[in-house]
Amino acid sequence: AHGYYKEKYRPHLHFTPEQMWMNDPNGLVYFEGEYHLFYQYHPYSTQWGPMHWGHAVSRDLVTWEHLPVALHPDEQGMIFSGSAVVDHEDTTGFFDGGKGLVAVYTSADGDLQRQSIAYSKDRGRTWAKYDGNPVLENPGIADFRDPKVFWHSSSSRWVMVLAAGKQVQLFTSENLKQWTFASSFGEGWGEQKGTWECPDLFPMINEKTGVEEWVLMIGIDAGGPCGGSGTQYFTGVFDGSAFFPDQQQDEVKWLDFGKDFYAAQSFSDLRDRRVIIAWMSNWQYANDVPTYPWRSAMTLPRELMLTKVSGKSVLKQMPVADSIQSMDNSAPGSGVQLLPGSPHIQSQPDAPFVWKITLELQADSHVEGTVFHTGEGGYRFGVEKGRAYVVRDECVPAFSDHYAAVCTADIAGSLDEVTLTVVCDFSSVEMFVNTGEIGMTNLYFPQTGLSHLMKLESIKGYAAVKDMVIDQRPSIWA
Ligand code: FRU
Repeated sequence: AHGYYKEKYRPHLHFTPEQMWMNDPNGLVYFEGEYHLFYQYHPYSTQWGPMHWGHAVSRDLVTWEHLPVALHPDEQGMIFSGSAVVDHEDTTGFFDGGKGLVAVYTSADGDLQRQSIAYSKDRGRTWAKYDGNPVLENPGIADFRDPKVFWHSSSSRWVMVLAAGKQVQLFTSENLKQWTFASSFGEGWGEQKGTWECPDLFPMINEKTGVEEWVLMIGIDAGGPCGGSGTQYFTGVFDGSAFFPDQQQDEVKWLDFGKDFYAAQSFSDLRDRRVIIAWMSNWQYANDVPTYPWRSAMTLPRELMLTKVSGKSVLKQMPVADSIQSMDNSAPGSGVQLLPGSPHIQSQPDAPFVWKITLELQADSHVEGTVFHTGEGGYRFGVEKGRAYVVRDECVPAFSDHYAAVCTADIAGSLDEVTLTVVCDFSSVEMFVNTGEIGMTNLYFPQTGLSHLMKLESIKGYAAVKDMVIDQRPSIWA
């Protein structure tokens, strides 16, 4: 049924459009048993162009059903990124006293960016644009886009956070149609190299303190942790009108330390959970990656947790359990002792698979793993000197000067024991350190035709494998 999915590099665990260009996830919302994934989509080319909202739904965040394009460009312009909410109380009057979905997005008409809304009375299957669009005019700021809207219950109104240059602006509304400026945040804060895009603002209970804090998550289109696009976040307080950070002005918190994690957005209307999806690419080379007839994939849906490390509030993230849950508890490498010169090599299952390794380390240990190992190369990851790293060598044939990369992240706390969860698909590797304290997400286009092995070795010092699981996953397109 899914012949498309036999293509070279086609992900089998990650969402991709059947064909053509995709970028940011949009309008993530849970409604009547379905998770909706809309996305920036160009239906006529494998390159970015006039943006539509593509659409898919899932009941389990693992398998997806493709639906027709939800929003097409109109007289207000292209349909840029935005969010979707459930209007439970019919604040808009669109739903005859019932409830329904409202999409809030940027209308991009040449260089003019304004915010518009559309609504659906049939579980997202068909959409009508509001005839009063745009609902928020441009105040004279070139980059003024990507509205994320949520219901703020203690003030009984809607709040919109949107990207405005290198900061965010907040607006409030009773009905999603009239918006009032509330505040701005971010001038001179955090990473300022790139334009801010695709913000999100949401409360989370800190698992260490039990106290509610707010997280402001933002994409930046340059200056990311490993070059190019990246996702930073701030933690603090939101009083219904303004966001007050609880960190230093120059401090930068990265949500993921790889090159391919951008425009992350969380689902609206999930009770007690914060699940995000990000676009798994980087504007440095997104238009050039060697896949056909589609371009781009989403990350696995990830569950966020807020915790404290060394007195600072930080996010942790892991793929939602169902997408990587172990089916096979065999532990082929447990008990392996690693010393320099005697690598542990074994055959690698076909993607997609999850390789989970718990290592016992000594202070000077440097341990490295390789997947898609071909004899010369492969995708390498490791732990050394309190840091985790991943190494992505040049793709053959090469397609971008920005592809080859070494990404690093500091590991907090004790280094006696480190757990690595490495999720491998046909063209990506997502690594999580210590149950999500660090995420490192990269596209990876392995050389094919060579035997695939996986390798774990000590580069320096002694280490022991305490636990190891290699879990092949079924294709979501099966
Ligand atoms: C982020 C972004 C958004 C914009 C969209 C256009 O990747 O640049 O700011 O709305 O892509 O496709």
